[in-house]
Amino acid sequence: MEIRSTGNPIHWVRTQIGDKYAELLGEIQRAAITLDLEVFVVGGTVRDWVLGKELKDIDLSVIGDALVLVDEISKNLDITIVKYKKFHTATIKTAEIEIDVVSARSEIYNYGGALPEITLGNLNDDLRRRDFSINAMAISMNTPYEFMDPLKGMTDLDKGIIRILHDQSFIDDPTRLFRMFRYASRFDFAIESETCRTAETAIAENCLTTISKERLTHEMVLILNEPNTDSAVKYLIEFDVLGIPGVYNPLILFSTMKQELKWVALMSMYEKKYYEMFFQKFSLDRQNANAIKEFINLCSILDDNDADLLNEMDIGRMYLLLKGIPRITLDAYVICNINTDLVKLLQQYMMYTDRVKINLNGMDLINLGVDKNQISEVIDVLIIKTLKGEISSKSEEELIVVQYVNGSND
Ligand code: CTP
Repeated sequence: MEIRSTGNPIHWVRTQIGDKYAELLGEIQRAAITLDLEVFVVGGTVRDWVLGKELKDIDLSVIGDALVLVDEISKNLDITIVKYKKFHTATIKTAEIEIDVVSARSEIYNYGGALPEITLGNLNDDLRRRDFSINAMAISMNTPYEFMDPLKGMTDLDKGIIRILHDQSFIDDPTRLFRMFRYASRFDFAIESETCRTAETAIAENCLTTISKERLTHEMVLILNEPNTDSAVKYLIEFDVLGIPGVYNPLILFSTMKQELKWVALMSMYEKKYYEMFFQKFSLDRQNANAIKEFINLCSILDDNDADLLNEMDIGRMYLLLKGIPRITLDAYVICNINTDLVKLLQQYMMYTDRVKINLNGMDLINLGVDKNQISEVIDVLIIKTLKGEISSKSEEELIVVQYVNGSND
């Protein structure tokens, strides 16, 4: 790959994300000149620019204190800046993008998974502390806009390789395992063999136990939001990152799946007896936690009633067995267990129940004399009779309800 002549980074920001952001970057450039600070575009921004990908956020590294630079910018602009004093970093927030401004630094991890202790340093230190070579290139924002690539990121981009920069990388920061799978799948890159071995060793040493549930969950959410989640999940399972036995299922397609099914689909690739263990590893929001609990519940119902049993069951009994299961959970089961006999039965069941429409509402039932506490029981009777084809009109429903009321009054 030929190194593109970079020119002033502001120009490519202008073409990619517009004048407004180019002007903001221009302000940063002017402030850097005023303060006599050297500023570099770094990290994912350089990588994506080289790859010709759409620019998302912008990563900048300041040789000196990034906080001094953002203070200078805020004198002239009315923008939101969030500062992280401990790490000497700041984020400039705009409507569409974020500009992360860090102080060039080296990092020391006192123990695996810890937040690093930082020492301000030069550009080389700052590039060396990073995760992968493809994220460790820089372009100066000062003339002549030099391209800096001491760790050979360009060669790896050219070969399509993900390579860590030192063999403690995953132990220091185990979230890099997830980042590696994201980049490998996003760019369809290979994981360099030594990096692969280092990852396997770190996983075998249980490196993930040093990070919080929240960080683990955040990394998994990023994986599930990747455009090519399927391939990232394949890595995740094949590297046995979670330490749970599982087999990648290529029939489950994340890319076309509704967001709310993704956690369940991921869990379904692990052995059923470890579902609870999978659930306990993460700190999920209520919606996803419920989806997982419902799925586990459905699996245990279906374990007690295999395909043969269900096949022999009449539709009424099947309805009573499954009526409490949300439709989305049934959908999830179908998506995760394509082509099994059980799934065919479930699909049939969903087709029948989808067609059922009861004409009487709760108020109608009360007017016909049904006790409030018995409404759901009566609705079940009506649904089952409709499913069996025994009734099909409002008047027939009314007749059944009257019989029910008379029967229960006897
Ligand atoms: N970085 C790192 N180790 C991490 C996280 C980040 O070395 N655990 C460095 C990388 O150089 C990365 C940069 O910080 O490029 C910015 O991080 P982030 O915004 O998370 O990543 P991007 O590279 O911008 O990637 P993405 O496209 O996924 O946002």
